[in-house]
Amino acid sequence: MTPHNQAKKDEIANTVLMPGDPLRAKYIATHYLTDIHCFNHVRNMLGYTGLYQGRPISIMGSGMGMPSIGIYSYELYTQYDVDTIIRIGSCGALIPSLDLFDVVLADSAWSRSTYAQEQSHDMDTIQYPSSAINQALQRAAKEQNQMLHPCRFHSSDIFYYEDGIDSGAIENQCAVVEMESFALFHNAKVTGKKAACICTVSDSLVTQQETTAQQRETAFDTMAQIALGGSLY
Ligand code: HPA
Repeated sequence: MTPHNQAKKDEIANTVLMPGDPLRAKYIATHYLTDIHCFNHVRNMLGYTGLYQGRPISIMGSGMGMPSIGIYSYELYTQYDVDTIIRIGSCGALIPSLDLFDVVLADSAWSRSTYAQEQSHDMDTIQYPSSAINQALQRAAKEQNQMLHPCRFHSSDIFYYEDGIDSGAIENQCAVVEMESFALFHNAKVTGKKAACICTVSDSLVTQQETTAQQRETAFDTMAQIALGGSLY
C-alpha cells in the first residue's frame, strides 16, 4: 500500500495501461477484460486488474499533468514491481499535417518542466520511451490496420496559454502537445523500467478544430485496442 494506492503488491499486473481519466480505466476494464478486480479507489483514481486474451493486465488512471502521473507511475514501478506502463491519452496537434483522431506514438518527449531535474538532477530536456514497447505498439497497430504516427511530444505544464503555441515546442520539432509523457519516461529511466505513450489527436492548435466528447470516446477505443494488442508482445 502507498498513500495513493490501496492495492496489495500481487494485485497489479506487470503491465499497466494508464489513461488520464480513471473512468476511462473503468471503461477499458469492463469492455475488454475478463475476471476484473478493482484494486484502487483512493481519490477515485480507479485501478483494475483483469485478463486480456488470458493474460493479466492492469489499467489505472494517471490524473492530469506530470505531478500526478509522476506519483502514480513511480509507485507502480517501485512498490508494485510493474515493468511496463503504456499511457493512452489525448493531445493537441501542433502541425497542420495531423488531423483530428489521428493516433500518435511518442518517439520522444520534450519539456520545459523541471520534473526530471528536481527528481534526480537529470538535466535532459528530452526523455525517451522504450523502443521495444514502441515496436510492439507499431506491430499491434499494423495488425489492426490502424495508422500510428511516431513523433515528438511536447509535455507541457500548461493547458491554457495566454499566447498560443509555445515557440520552444516548434523549435524542438514537437508535433503534438500533452501533459504527462516526459515525467512518465523519466520515471521509467530512473527506475530501470519501460514506458510508452500513444495519444489521439483531440484538438488542433493550428486549425482550432475540436472533437466532441462522443467522438473522443470512439477514438479512445481504437487507441485502447492498439495498447492492449501491444501488451501481448
Ligand atoms: N494541450 C495540452 N494537453 C492536451 C491538449 C492540449 O491542447 N489537448 C489534449 N491534451
